[in-house]
Amino acid sequence: MKKIILVFGTRPEAIKMAPLVKRFQECNNDFHTICCVTGQHREMLDQVLEIFEIKPDYDLNIMKDGQDLFDVTARVLYGMRDILTKEKPDMVFVHGDTTTSMATALAAFYCQIPVSHIEAGLRTYNIYSPWPEEINRQLTGRIATFHFTPTISSKQNLLSEGVNEYNILVTGNTVIDALFSVLNKVRTNKVLQNKISSIFLNAGYDLSRIDNNKQLVLITGHRRENFGDGFLNICQAIKTLTIKYPNVDFLYPMHLNPNVREPIGKIFEHNLSTNIFFIEPLDYLSFVYIMDKSYIILTDSGGIQEEAPSLGKPVLVMRDTTERPEALVAGTVELVGTDTAKIVDSVSCLIDNKEYYEKISKANNPYGDGMACNRIVDFLKK
Ligand code: UD1
Ligand code: UDP
Repeated sequence: MKKIILVFGTRPEAIKMAPLVKRFQECNNDFHTICCVTGQHREMLDQVLEIFEIKPDYDLNIMKDGQDLFDVTARVLYGMRDILTKEKPDMVFVHGDTTTSMATALAAFYCQIPVSHIEAGLRTYNIYSPWPEEINRQLTGRIATFHFTPTISSKQNLLSEGVNEYNILVTGNTVIDALFSVLNKVRTNKVLQNKISSIFLNAGYDLSRIDNNKQLVLITGHRRENFGDGFLNICQAIKTLTIKYPNVDFLYPMHLNPNVREPIGKIFEHNLSTNIFFIEPLDYLSFVYIMDKSYIILTDSGGIQEEAPSLGKPVLVMRDTTERPEALVAGTVELVGTDTAKIVDSVSCLIDNKEYYEKISKANNPYGDGMACNRIVDFLKK
C-alpha cells in the first residue's frame, strides 16, 4: 500500500484534481489517499469541494485578501513542510501552474519526496505570459518525477527539455473527466435544472431570457498580466458591445480578486445597460450549464479554453499567448488579446456572420476523452 497526498488550492486545480482524488480513493487496496488543500482560494475552492463532495484531510487556509505571490509562496511552503514531515507520503501530486503547485513541489523536494505533475508540459516559453504561471509550471516540471501531460504537444515540450520519455504519460486533461462527470446531469436532470435556475435567479440573472432564443455572451477574466489597463480595455469593449447589440445578453460571473472587480466598477459605474449582468462566481454545475447554453465565450481562463471545445462553443481568448495551441489549430479558439477594438470586432464577427459562426463552433475534444484519471492511476499501480 502506497501513501499518497494530493495537494491543491485554487478553483481550477480543485475541479481538475477532484476526479483524481475520487479515483484514488476507489483504489483503497493500493493507495492510502490523503487530500490536502492550501486554501489559496477560499469561497471559490469551497464551492468545488462541495459539488464534488470532497472533505480534505488538511486545510492550510492560507488565503488573505489581496495576497501577493510572496504571501502565497511562503505560506504554502511552511504549511506543506509540517504536513509532509508528519505524513511522510510516498508521493506528492500537484497540478498545473499555480503558486500552490510550485511551492508544494518545492516543499516535497526539500523533503526528498517524489512528485507527480498533473497537466504537465504546457508552455509558452515567455516567462511573463502567463505570469507567474509559466515559471510555476517549469519549476514544478523540473522537480517532478512523473509527468502526466494532457496532449502530445505538451509531451513534446518535455522531451525537448530532456525529460525521460518513460516518465511521461499522455492522458488527456482531467478537466474533461470533471466536465463529463457533470454534463449529462446538467443537461437532463430536471430537479437539478430547477435548482440551477433558482441559483441564477438569486444571482440576478433570469434563465428564461435565454429560453426565448436570446444569444448569450459568457465572460470571465482574472489573469494577473491583464490587471490595470488590460482589464480597463476589456470592460470598455464589453460596454461597447452591450450598446451595439441590445438584443444579446452579456453575463459576467466575476472572479473574487479585487483587481478584477475594480475596473468593472470604474467603467460601468454610471452606465449599466439592461443586457449586461455582473454576478458572483458560479458553482461548477451552474457554470457548466451556462457554458452549454451560451453562444460565445469571452475569457482569459485556461480551463475554459479546454472545456468549451467539447461543448462546441467558440472561445475568444483575451490573452496574447496560449499554452493550449490544440484548440487554436482546431479553429474553435481565437486569441484576441486585450485591445478594445479587436475584442469588439471579433465578437461582432461571430454575432453578425452566421456562416463563420457555424464554421468555428463544431464540437471537438483536443483535450481528452474523460479517461485521464484512469490512465494516471493505472500507470501508478504498475
Ligand atoms: C490564482 C492562480 C492562477 C489561476 C487562478 C484561477 C497563482 C499565482 N494564481 O490566481 O494561476 O489561474 O487562481 O482562478 O497561483 N479571492 C477571494 N476568494 C477566493 C479566491 C480569491 O476573495 O475564493 C481574492 C482574494 O482577495 C485573493 C485574490 O482573490 O487574495 C487573489 O487570489 P490568488 O489566488 O492570489 O490569485 P488568482 O488571481 O485567483
Ligand atoms: N468556473 C466555475 N465558475 C465560474 C467560472 C469558472 O466553476 O464562475 C470553472 C470553469 O468551468 C473552469 C474553471 O472554473 O473549469 C476555470 O477557472 P479559472 O478561469 O478561475 O482558472 P484558470 O483555468 O484560468 O486557471
